[in-house]
Amino acid sequence: MEWLTTIDNLEKTAALFWEALKKYRVFVFHGEMGAGKTTFIHALCAHKKIKDAFSSPTFSLINEYRYVDGEEEKIIYHMDLYRVKTEEEAVQAGIEDCLFSKHICLVEWPEKIPHLLPDETCHAFIEITGPETRRIRIADK
Ligand SMILES: Nc1ncnc2c1ncn2[C@@H]1O[C@H](COP(=O)(O)OP(=O)(O)O)[C@@H](O)[C@H]1O
Ligand SMILES: [Mg+2]
Repeated sequence: MEWLTTIDNLEKTAALFWEALKKYRVFVFHGEMGAGKTTFIHALCAHKKIKDAFSSPTFSLINEYRYVDGEEEKIIYHMDLYRVKTEEEAVQAGIEDCLFSKHICLVEWPEKIPHLLPDETCHAFIEITGPETRRIRIADK
């Protein structure tokens, strides 16, 4: 499964992404620096109508975003592991508590924690295809 998206239709791509991948809870995003991982994650969160403003993911490992789904208050964890050096450091930071919670997790730089990811993780690969276009591909099992 894959989508080609411009910067202007990320919102629509985010809607298609959530709809197609409902069965997953943990999503990881592979792609080089500047590929668009953070930008797409913001679009995914915007689609859920997050109440809290985004903090800078660059300086903290785990961001927590709250949104309302019907009557329920729900959480999305956004983890940016760029600065993580070892899996142990990620564990110390509480990454596993999020990954094995009941909440949706969106993870950048999952290559840093290959042994910590749950089996049922959805792997997305973002590639730069032009100045404002990206390919978002879901790895088939
Ligand atoms: N279609 C697109 N999807 C996502 N980002 C895009 C797209 N087109 C251009 N961009 C730009 O590419 C950059 C991606 O940066 P960012 O999301 O921080 O990347 P990453 O988190 O992968 O390092 C942003 O400046 C964004 O505006
Ligand atoms: Mg990023």
